[in-house]
Amino acid sequence: ARPRILITRAIFPEVVQRLSEHFDVEANQADAIWTPAELAARLADKDGAFTTGSQRIDAALLAACPRLRIVANMAVGYNNFDVEALTRAGVQGTNTPDVLTETTADFGFALLMATARRMAEAEHYLRAGQWTTWRYDLLAGADIHASTLGILGMGRIGQGIARRGAHGFGMNVIYHNRTRLNAATEAQCRARYVSKDELLRSADHLVLVLPYTAEAHHTIGAPELAQMKPSATLVNIARGGIVDDAALAEALRQRRIAAAGLDVFEGEPQVHPALLDLPNVVLTPHIASATVPTRRAMADLAADNLIAFLGGRGALTPVNTPDAAPAHQRSSAN
Ligand code: GLV
Ligand code: GLV
Repeated sequence: ARPRILITRAIFPEVVQRLSEHFDVEANQADAIWTPAELAARLADKDGAFTTGSQRIDAALLAACPRLRIVANMAVGYNNFDVEALTRAGVQGTNTPDVLTETTADFGFALLMATARRMAEAEHYLRAGQWTTWRYDLLAGADIHASTLGILGMGRIGQGIARRGAHGFGMNVIYHNRTRLNAATEAQCRARYVSKDELLRSADHLVLVLPYTAEAHHTIGAPELAQMKPSATLVNIARGGIVDDAALAEALRQRRIAAAGLDVFEGEPQVHPALLDLPNVVLTPHIASATVPTRRAMADLAADNLIAFLGGRGALTPVNTPDAAPAHQRSSAN
């Protein structure tokens, strides 16, 4: 029999079609938002799942899905996975690195520029009919060119933002990361490694691009915001929860820092109400990878992972090495 898969959210019809050539597919083209119990019920008899970052895959869910062998996430981040639980259950997890790197770096830069140059605020001002005359300080913001760009989290996307800043805008790029880049990569990015404290103190613009893990929770809170320059901008395109949004809203209100650009939020799609009331923040709904070609490439890579793995050829972009023993128990039970 053909393997059975569940596609948990609406996706490009062409990708549903392609998967249907390999599998018995249960799709969700109506884009219903399932509760964890509904997801578990639909996944109970499936061999594979196509997920997006908004379905939690944990031990309780896996226990209810004994046939499941692979969960293919259409996202580079996979903090929606309990990776240890997947590994223990003998389930392969995969993500979609590389195909979204440049698109996401473009967006990080766009959000940085919109924030520093107060574009959202300016647009609201004009639409509200408040533009009546020239004024010397009307919507005056911060410079991008020749300023100091700080990057926290220097993976592929962080490096893409560094290259844009250094090569395109003559920025002085500094970064902090758990592991320092090799000299050749640092040279390509024209980026200098600094301590986290120096990064916070020296950056005119600080961009967060680190993966969300338990240790990364509230990496930027009140103490870190207090170290930043009062003229600084903060951009988060990584994950909600890396920033303490309540502390950030308070720092923005007090002008402890100048402005923030946020594509991700704690508890999204809820947004901290204090942020919604502030003029000096640019808010976007988790769209950093959202161009048509890149979203298609991400969907294709998630599909390719399912096709390769369930076809016995191994995952293309695995995030774990599943334990073999539980998988054997499952196949003998089938
Ligand atoms: C989006 O946030 C992703 O992780 O791809
Ligand atoms: C994260 O995986 C990145 O590409 O920066």
